[in-house]
Amino acid sequence: MSPKAKNPLKITDLTFRDGHQSLFATRMRTEDIEAIAETAGKVGYHSMEVWGGATFDTMHRFLGEDPWERPKRLRKFIPKEVKFQMLLRGQNLVGYRNYADDVANAFVDEACEAGVDIYRIFDALNDERNFETAAKAVLRNGMHFQAALSFTVTERKMGGKIFTKNYWVKKAKNFASMGADSICIKDMAGLLSPDDAYSLIKALKKAVDLPIELHCHTTSGLAEYTFQRAIDAGVDIIDTCSAPFANRTSHPAIEPIVTMLQDSDRATGLDMDKLNEINEYLETIAPKYKHLLDTSRLAVVDIGVLRHQVPGGMLSNLINQLKQANADHRLNDVFAELPLVRKDLGFPPLVTPTSQIVGVQAVQNVLFGKPGSIEDRYKMISGQVKDYCYGLYGTPPAEVNDELRALALKGYKRGTEPITCRPADVLEPELEEAKKDIGDLAKNQKDLLLYTLFPTTGKRLLEVREGLAKAPAEWTARTTEEGLAEQELIKKALAGTLEEKKEAPKPSANAATYQVYINGQYFDVAVEGDVIVRPAAPVAAPAAPAPVAAPAPVAAPAPAPAAAAPAPAPAAAPAPAAAGAGGLPAPMPGMVLEYKVKPGDTVKTGDTVVILEAMKMENSLVAHMDGTIQEVLFSNGDSVGQGDILLVIS
Ligand code: CO
Repeated sequence: MSPKAKNPLKITDLTFRDGHQSLFATRMRTEDIEAIAETAGKVGYHSMEVWGGATFDTMHRFLGEDPWERPKRLRKFIPKEVKFQMLLRGQNLVGYRNYADDVANAFVDEACEAGVDIYRIFDALNDERNFETAAKAVLRNGMHFQAALSFTVTERKMGGKIFTKNYWVKKAKNFASMGADSICIKDMAGLLSPDDAYSLIKALKKAVDLPIELHCHTTSGLAEYTFQRAIDAGVDIIDTCSAPFANRTSHPAIEPIVTMLQDSDRATGLDMDKLNEINEYLETIAPKYKHLLDTSRLAVVDIGVLRHQVPGGMLSNLINQLKQANADHRLNDVFAELPLVRKDLGFPPLVTPTSQIVGVQAVQNVLFGKPGSIEDRYKMISGQVKDYCYGLYGTPPAEVNDELRALALKGYKRGTEPITCRPADVLEPELEEAKKDIGDLAKNQKDLLLYTLFPTTGKRLLEVREGLAKAPAEWTARTTEEGLAEQELIKKALAGTLEEKKEAPKPSANAATYQVYINGQYFDVAVEGDVIVRPAAPVAAPAAPAPVAAPAPVAAPAPAPAAAAPAPAPAAAPAPAAAGAGGLPAPMPGMVLEYKVKPGDTVKTGDTVVILEAMKMENSLVAHMDGTIQEVLFSNGDSVGQGDILLVIS
């Protein structure tokens, strides 16, 4: 090894959190990390990010693992000098809404107990007040509070009206005064250009006497160039992955950086042999995870980000949402609407959960509104946009459009006057209530937090652990053999040696043809022989089976693109006979969260009658006429297709 550099560049390894979250839907299992942990602990990393973000959600929901155990298990293989790091979404913790302070305090205490040393805290609106409780809890536990700037741009580069260099410097100073031990520039969409990185890092280093860390995703293809200029500017720490988990929507690979800096002032001192060992190991487990990698496009660089700032993950969500509504041809309209919605909402950085809130609202404006005034465009406003306009997510970087705010808060449950205080100040403590609900199933505070954060899937994990429920099939790990067998099939198919299925005979002239509607799409189906079709009785559809993955928590968006579960299939639709002028159709496919009315209730036009969760956002559907509720055709929790009649008014 070469002699120690004067000012070695420190490295945070993201392979075991953001790396597999970005590329493999956060599905890596603890046992697969354990198997290489000892080697990883000897590379010479400054820290390893091993927890937070979507790991908590995915582990208990899809892997059947208790998320609290991962840091403890890994610590057995990795010496204390290598710090363990987590990503914490401010007052959102590892969930999708603001939690009360008692939950935030307890969560940080337990994370410290579980072995996390460095807490990278961020907020989607860069609102300092959403850092307060978590930051204080980290400092009270004697751990490292790293404040992250959720980096975004007004237009293409740093500058413009809002996200100027001064904006970021001011934020960093505020965080320093809150006791931050370091500052991170968190560039989640890869929007930071090399020259901007240089000038921003110089400015930050001058303004605050704290280590500066840079976190860039390679989505747009800029990150490696940006790193080079950041190193020139004196950045202290950069975030990287082992090569097999690097690039695409992930992060730069560490190995070329080690080579590039060798024998320089900034040489990392990392052990290339150990890095190579990790590379070889990750290739051997690749068959278990490869199917999760999105290889639908040839390009590893997503130029969409450079053009319209919509990163790939968000883009595929938008396309799915449009497809479900039979409107995929309107994607360009959504691209045009998206920046307008972002502007109306005061230019939030697009990161969980604001990316979902803005994206879905843009889709809804395109589907249900028309270009023009605020009232023309915002025909349907999601519950999350209402919460946002009320101030529940914090203060946006710029003013929210007054007209939109007034429209969104018309009849809003908490009031029409937005709050100006810290969002968590209006939240009641939650743990006592949760304790009452879950009872003895929660053996300790960690269990209680798991349940509080994820009431449905968290409870399921506890029930399975106690032998009260069966483990769902999806928890079973995919084996290397299964992965290899599948690869073999694909290889054969590509080589044209896979035996083809017999071609189906053409339907005869006597075959009856039907159009079958499934999930907003329709198929032509031909049936041979005599078929008698009876119209379905207009009765309430049977309750849909509980979806495999939990639906989004009530009053909270559940965007986590990495952990997103496929939408459950819609329940059988009632016959159109129930429709007519009084039938209220679902404007889009979704899940009935709650009927606000029952048969016999009188309603006035504009009264909220159903809450429909669609595209993971809550939407209030209102009565389209005055009258009495004749019939309610689904149950809470049922999935519905577009156009299904939800209730009948007469
Ligand atoms: Co990231």
